[in-house]
Amino acid sequence: MTTVTADRSRFPQDFAWGTATASYQVEGATDVDGRGPSIWDTFTRVPGAIADGRTGDLADDHYRRFREDVAMLADLGTNAYRFSIAWPRIQADGTGPANPAGLRFYRELSEALLERGITPWVTLYHWDLPQALEDRGGWLERDTAQRFGEYAALVVDELGDVIDHWATLNEPWCSAFLGYAGGVHAPGRRLGSQAARAAHHLLLGHGLGMQAIRAARPEATAGVVLNLYSVRAASESAADQDAARRVDGLQNRFFLEPLLGEGYPADVLEDLGETEWFAQNEADAELIAAPIDFLGINYYSRHVVAAPPLGVALPGAAAAGLAWPGSESVQMVDTGAPRTQMGWPIHPEGMVDVLEMAHCRRPDLPLYITENGSAYPDEVVDGEIEDEGRRRYLEQHVLACSAALQQGLPLKGYFAWTSMDNFEWAWGYSRRFGLVHVDYDTQKRTVKRSGKWFARFLGGAAGDA
Ligand code: NOJ
Repeated sequence: MTTVTADRSRFPQDFAWGTATASYQVEGATDVDGRGPSIWDTFTRVPGAIADGRTGDLADDHYRRFREDVAMLADLGTNAYRFSIAWPRIQADGTGPANPAGLRFYRELSEALLERGITPWVTLYHWDLPQALEDRGGWLERDTAQRFGEYAALVVDELGDVIDHWATLNEPWCSAFLGYAGGVHAPGRRLGSQAARAAHHLLLGHGLGMQAIRAARPEATAGVVLNLYSVRAASESAADQDAARRVDGLQNRFFLEPLLGEGYPADVLEDLGETEWFAQNEADAELIAAPIDFLGINYYSRHVVAAPPLGVALPGAAAAGLAWPGSESVQMVDTGAPRTQMGWPIHPEGMVDVLEMAHCRRPDLPLYITENGSAYPDEVVDGEIEDEGRRRYLEQHVLACSAALQQGLPLKGYFAWTSMDNFEWAWGYSRRFGLVHVDYDTQKRTVKRSGKWFARFLGGAAGDA
């Protein structure tokens, strides 16, 4: 039982309260209206790649059911919704003119949201790269960054009248290191430290995307979304401190610092053995550091880090995103904190840590929690989902938002991950993060206890008594 209750009236009137999804995770309809194949269509067909062997072919069938889903978001009482655009719906093979049918879907979705008083927050790249671009080397190639810039220009030109809030990339760390080093995400490559080059091209793509957005819609609000972790060393020992430096380095600083104009952290480039390659690409620094209007932070958990052999390797570490260059030289310590079904320790205070981390580096930068959520093995009993673990997680993190504001941090919004259960990447449908339950056999949506709690907090019609 939580003793403190969250109170919306303690938040600014214009605070953005939303939920988030991503195209491949919810849309389905992967072969209609001229959509081309993405790297996730390919990867989900690799035997053993996805825990339950399933694909995003149908997912939540959101492409067809979006009107019903928008009504559901309105009932939750949210005033913002973060979704992503599937690049291969706009350019089937990643090049050439925009596909009108793909644009139409996102226009209709945005208009339906606006009619309900919900502001669309759009991510241009949430991992579904056109397969044709991967066939040419994907994010290891500089050309992919150029293509992304062109795609961004097409989309913002066409949809900039209905969408005001843009994020270029979602969690480039995952695209680069889970996709090109760990091999647990599409395209499933295991290239070790060279994955850092993919990270550079993603960041360059971000810079070119920012340029495109500014050119098409100078008045739009534009930024990027990073997954940041609160990182602590398990002890004062030099070895543990160094392990924490490595984790913080690759997960946080490697992205945050170049984006904020500080360049790549030299210690991380050295750890990776990529100093020379990055020196050759130094001229990109300015583009990557294009001024952003906000930083989106996806926060889920904290890492307490030790050098081996003291720490305990987490089960499923690779799929949890813990396999990357140098990861063999660090261990995550079990502090006894409760965990979600993903095995991720729950640590709401860490959310304040990551907001502080960004704020210290750029005090004037507005910050948003663009994702935060938890997986639990839900059960439907008499048509109800009593997900007390998720409800508590949500409330604790909403309270952490309140604490952040009290400390004077420029937090401007919070998006719960996720609106409804959906395709959880390498885990397929075996992990549910939704505030709304989806029965994948019938596509029936049922608001969970956590969703009812959020709706009550926000004053939405789906609120519990
Ligand atoms: C971050 C990703 O952006 C999202 O796609 C994913 O489902 C959640 N984390 C949960 O793992």
